[in-house]
Amino acid sequence: MRIFIAVGLVTVGIFAAAGSLAPIAAQEGTTAANPYHLPPTHFGSENPQAVHAFDVAPGFADAPVADNPQAPDATPVGQQVCTACHSRESQVFAHTTHALGMQVAFTANPDAATCEACHGPGSAHAQNPLQAGAIIAFTHDGGTPIKTQTESCMGCHDGGPRDHWLGSIHQRNQLSCSDCHNPMAQFSVEGLQAKQSINETCATCHKDIRQQFNRRSHMPLPEGQMACVDCHNPHGTINVSLLKTDTVNETCYQCHAEKRGPFLFEHAPVRENCLNCHTPHGSNQHALLVAPVPMLCQQCHSHTRHPNDMFNEQMLGNAMAPDERLMGRGCLTCHSQIHGSNNPAGPRFHK
Ligand code: HEC
Ligand code: HEC
Ligand code: HEC
Ligand code: HEC
Ligand code: HEC
Ligand code: HEC
Ligand code: HEC
Ligand code: HEC
Ligand code: HEC
Ligand code: HEC
Repeated sequence: MRIFIAVGLVTVGIFAAAGSLAPIAAQEGTTAANPYHLPPTHFGSENPQAVHAFDVAPGFADAPVADNPQAPDATPVGQQVCTACHSRESQVFAHTTHALGMQVAFTANPDAATCEACHGPGSAHAQNPLQAGAIIAFTHDGGTPIKTQTESCMGCHDGGPRDHWLGSIHQRNQLSCSDCHNPMAQFSVEGLQAKQSINETCATCHKDIRQQFNRRSHMPLPEGQMACVDCHNPHGTINVSLLKTDTVNETCYQCHAEKRGPFLFEHAPVRENCLNCHTPHGSNQHALLVAPVPMLCQQCHSHTRHPNDMFNEQMLGNAMAPDERLMGRGCLTCHSQIHGSNNPAGPRFHK
C-alpha cells in the first residue's frame, strides 16, 4: 500500500516538473499540419489549454514516437523488445533524467513511447539490426542524417535556450545534440553532458581555448568555479561568438557590475569594449591584459602632452634616468581609476 502511495507521489512530482517543458512542443510538433517546421510561438493562441496547463497529459506521458524518414514503414515495438537485445544499454540508461520520467509515464500508460521517443519506430531495425538508418542512431557514422537526429530531440526541446539553434555556428558545422549530450548515461552531475563536466565537453573540440585558461592570469574556470556557459550559449545566439548577452560588455557586467558605472568621467575604450584591453580566456600579462602597461596605454596615447616620449632602456625603473611612468605600476601609479572616475577632480582618472 505504502509503495503505491510513494509511486503516486513521484508520478505527480515528475508530471508537475515535466509539465513546463514537453506538452506544448509535443502537441504542436513537426507534424503534417506544420510541414515547414516553423517554431511555435508559445504565445497561447495555438493551444490555450496547454498554456493554462489544464487537462493536458503533461511531459513524458505524451511522448510521441520520433519521426524517422528513413524508415517510413516501421512501426513502434515498445521498450521490452529493445531491452531484449540491448539490456546493457538499458541498465545504464535507467539512471538518467529521461529514463526516470519515462518509466513513470510508461507504468501509467503502456502506450507512452520510451526508447522510441528518441530512436524512432523500431520494427524495421528489430527485423534487421544491420540495416543502416532503420533506427535513429546518434553517431556520425550510424546512417541517420544529423537533421533527423536533432529533430528527434527538438520535438520536446525546441524554444527557450535553443531558439537560435537553426543557423547557429554549431548547427552549421554539423554538430548533433549528441556531440555534447549523452542521454544514455549519467556522465555529468546534471545536464546529461557527454563528458564529466561542461568545460570538459567543450574542450573535446576547443582545446586551444581551454589551454588559454591555464595561463598566468585567468578567471577561475580551471578551479571549477566558472563554466564556458557563463558567457556562451552553445545552442546558438543572434550575436557573434555565441555570447549570451547582446554585447561583450553586457557579458562582463553580469559579474563585474561595478565596471558598468555610471561614471562622471568615462574612459572611452572601457565603455566601448572591455576587450580593448582584456582577453577573456586567459593572458600571460597581469589582470588579463592584452599587453603590459605602459605599452597598452601607448597603443592609443602617444601624441598627447606627457606620454609623448618614446621610452628606452635608460628610463627603466632600475636604470640611469628612471622615468616615473615606468616605475611602480607604470601609468597606473597616477591614473589608478582606469575604468572611470566619479571624483569631481578625476577627469584624468587619478582619483
Ligand atoms: C533483434 C535484436 C535487436 C532489437 C530487438 C533491437 N536492436 Fe538495436 N541493435 C541490435 C544490434 C545487433 C545492433 C548493432 C548493429 C551494428 O553494429 O551495426 C543494434 C544497434 C542499435 C543502435 C546503434 C545504431 C548505430 O549505428 O549507432 C541503436 C541506437 C539501437 N540499436 C536502438 C534500438 C532500439 C531503440 C530498439 C527498440 C526499438 C532496438 N535497438 C531493438 C539489435 C537489436
Ligand atoms: C532522450 C533520448 C533517448 C532515449 C529515451 C533513449 N536513447 Fe538510446 N541513444 C540516445 C543518444 C543521443 C545516443 C547516442 C549516444 C552517444 O553519443 O554515444 C543513444 C545511443 C543508443 C545506443 C547505441 C549504443 C550507445 O550506448 O551509444 C543504443 C543501443 C541505444 N541508444 C538504445 C536505447 C534503448 C534500448 C533505449 C530505451 C531503453 C534508449 N536508447 C533510449 C538517445 C536516447
Ligand atoms: C519525449 C520528450 C523528450 C525527448 C524526445 C527528449 N527529451 Fe530531453 N528531456 C525531456 C524532459 C521532459 C526533460 C526534463 C525537463 C526538466 O527537468 O525540466 C528532459 C531533460 C533533458 C536534459 C536535461 C537533463 C538534466 O539532467 O538537467 C537534457 C540535456 C536533455 N533532455 C537532452 C535531450 C537530448 C539530447 C535529446 C535527444 C537525443 C532529448 N533530450 C530528447 C523530454 C524529452
Ligand atoms: C556544443 C555543445 C552542445 C550542443 C551541440 C547541444 N547542447 Fe544542449 N547543452 C549544452 C550545455 C553545455 C548545457 C548546459 C547549459 C547550462 O547549464 O547553462 C546544455 C543544456 C541543455 C538542456 C538542459 C537545459 C536547457 O537548456 O533547457 C537541454 C534540454 C539541451 N541542452 C538540449 C539540447 C538539444 C536538443 C540539442 C540539439 C539541438 C543540444 N542541446 C545541443 C551543450 C550543448
Ligand atoms: C564536436 C565539436 C565541438 C564541441 C564539443 C563544441 N564546439 Fe564550439 N565550435 C565547434 C566548431 C566546429 C565551431 C566553428 C569553428 C570555426 O568555424 O572556427 C565552433 C565554434 C564555437 C564558438 C565560436 C562562435 C563564433 O561565432 O565564432 C564558440 C563561442 C563555441 N564554439 C563555444 C562552445 C562551447 C561553449 C562549447 C561547450 C558547451 C562548445 N563550443 C563545444 C565545435 C565544437
Ligand atoms: C568570461 C566570459 C567567457 C568565458 C568564461 C568563456 N568565454 Fe569564450 N569568449 C568570450 C568572449 C567575450 C568572446 C568574444 C571574443 C571576441 O569577440 O573577440 C569569446 C570567444 C570565444 C570563441 C571564438 C573566438 C575565439 O577566440 O576563437 C570560442 C571558440 C570560445 N569563446 C570558446 C570558449 C570555451 C570553449 C570556453 C570554456 C572553456 C569559453 N569560451 C569561456 C567570453 C568567455
Ligand atoms: C560568471 C562571472 C564572470 C563573468 C561573466 C566575467 N567575469 Fe571576470 N572574473 C570573475 C571572477 C570570479 C574573477 C576572479 C575574481 C577574484 O579572483 O577575485 C574574475 C576576474 C577578472 C579579472 C581579473 C583577473 C586577474 O588576474 O586579476 C578581469 C580583468 C576580468 N575578470 C575581466 C572580465 C571580462 C573582460 C569579462 C567579460 C568578457 C568578465 N571578466 C566576465 C567572474 C566573471
Ligand atoms: C583602457 C584599458 C582597459 C579597458 C578598456 C578595461 N580595463 Fe579592466 N583593467 C585595466 C587595467 C590596466 C587593469 C589593471 C589594474 C590594476 O592593476 O590595478 C584592469 C583590471 C581589471 C579588473 C581587475 C581589477 C579590478 O579593478 O577589479 C577587472 C575585473 C576588470 N579590469 C574588468 C574590466 C571590465 C569588465 C571592462 C569592460 C567594462 C574593462 N575592465 C575594461 C584596463 C582596462
Ligand atoms: C583603445 C585605446 C585606448 C587605450 C588602450 C587606452 N586609452 Fe586612455 N583614452 C582613450 C580615449 C579614446 C580617450 C578619450 C580621449 C578624449 O576624450 O579626448 C582616453 C582618455 C584617457 C585619459 C583622459 C585624457 C583626457 O584627455 O581626458 C587618460 C588619463 C587616459 N586615457 C589614460 C590611459 C591609460 C593610463 C591607459 C593604459 C592603462 C589608457 N588610457 C589606455 C583611448 C585609450
Ligand atoms: C607621475 C604621475 C603620472 C604618471 C606615472 C603618468 N601620468 Fe599621465 N598624467 C598625469 C597628470 C598629473 C596629468 C594631468 C596633466 C594635466 O592635466 O595637464 C596626466 C595626463 C595624462 C593624459 C591626458 C593628457 C592631455 O593631453 O590632457 C593622458 C592621456 C595620460 N596622462 C596618459 C598617461 C600614460 C599613457 C601614462 C603611462 C605611460 C601616464 N599618463 C603616466 C600624471 C601621470
